[in-house]
Amino acid sequence: MMMMILSPRQWLLLLPLVFLSTLLFSYLYTTLWLRPERLRQKLRSQGVKGPKPSFLFGNIPEMRRIQKLATPAQEEGAGPTDRFSSNYVATLFPYFLHWTRVYGSIYLYATGSIQTLHVIHPDMVKELASCKSLDLGKPSYLQKEHGALLGTGILTANGDLWVHQRKVIAPEFFMDKVKGMVNLMMDAALSMLNSWEEKVESEGGRAEIVVDEFLRNFSADVISRASFGSSFVEGKEIFYKIRQLQKAMAKRSMLIGVPGSRYLPTKSNREIWNLGSCIRSLILDIAKKHGQDSAATRNKFFLHSIIEGSKAASFSSCTPEDFIVDNCKNIYFAGHETTSSTAAWCLMLLAAHPEWQDRARAEVLDVCHGEALDFDKLRKLKTEEELILRPQKQQNNRDDIQVYISP
Ligand code: HEM
Repeated sequence: MMMMILSPRQWLLLLPLVFLSTLLFSYLYTTLWLRPERLRQKLRSQGVKGPKPSFLFGNIPEMRRIQKLATPAQEEGAGPTDRFSSNYVATLFPYFLHWTRVYGSIYLYATGSIQTLHVIHPDMVKELASCKSLDLGKPSYLQKEHGALLGTGILTANGDLWVHQRKVIAPEFFMDKVKGMVNLMMDAALSMLNSWEEKVESEGGRAEIVVDEFLRNFSADVISRASFGSSFVEGKEIFYKIRQLQKAMAKRSMLIGVPGSRYLPTKSNREIWNLGSCIRSLILDIAKKHGQDSAATRNKFFLHSIIEGSKAASFSSCTPEDFIVDNCKNIYFAGHETTSSTAAWCLMLLAAHPEWQDRARAEVLDVCHGEALDFDKLRKLKTEEELILRPQKQQNNRDDIQVYISP
């Protein structure tokens, strides 16, 4: 066996390498294991248990295993109504159901090094819902792992940056502004309903319509018109790209939290990077045109407030361009899928419960008397309100741990 003898000079040259490796190892050990373990210990001492995570992947392998085992059994066992309404948690998130049975209504699980507190205890849900963003803060992983989609916008920001964004964005959702949007919502809804009617007529009075894409387009149409005014066609192009970005990011959703996975030049990561820079250019182009168009500057759309907000403050973590791009993306993301899936959920509940359809129809006839819907009439439609309020799922992101509030 040959042994290599190093001279003192060679040893000295190796020292920085040894030093760097030790630093890297202790950094990885602290962030990936020690810090999450301390957090878990704190919660364990308060009686919060949960499945044992593995190093690097947390509980992802177990989630995959439970999902694989559960899906065929549920598909066979559940009726169509069951599968989509009361029992949908079992179909979509069988691991939550399994862990709830084992650990109770509050437990901790991990995806990679991200720790999530799963809560379905009503009192705690109530208490958490009363916390404002600044009370608990938002976790840094959102900006790191979902950077291409959320950046440093209002959904991920903390401290002064969040306060400034909130001041800029909140007035856009004051009641008088929303009242002014009802007409454009009606226009978008009517054009969608007309296309459904045309389809039904062309197919002899009966047609099967897959509503998801229509509702997504409807929601994109409304937010684009409300946010970008006359530039709404370009706004819709951004939606299309953001949807593609979401799909690309969903491909690696189980890997979120696995250290370093977002830097690997995989096919989906490359797609994410390309779409990210394409969306950025599209938004900045609209913003530039808006600045040159005096009519657009007079009509104060959401984009106008964001552009003004980007000039009003300087933050080390965010350039004025980032401010515009990230907040536009955040509004798209926050308002698009949420409203379209809520609408799809309501339609699905109505389809599953014909007696609710009768109630809703009678109410609309009673309130509208054949006239177009307006803001005041909308407030009188209680069945629709009840449907919207029937919970889907909610996830609140807070510093250190994510809080998943299940229905
Ligand atoms: C059914 C529809 C919607 C649901 C269920 C929903 C749900 C939520 C939830 C749970 C949060 C808190 C997230 C967190 O703190 O971690 C949130 C925040 C937010 N949502 Fe929505 N949302 C909906 C529609 C919209 C729409 C239409 C818009 C705008 C066009 C919007 C804009 C926002 C913004 C800007 C925030 C961040 C507020 C802040 O941090 O101060 N949302 N939403």
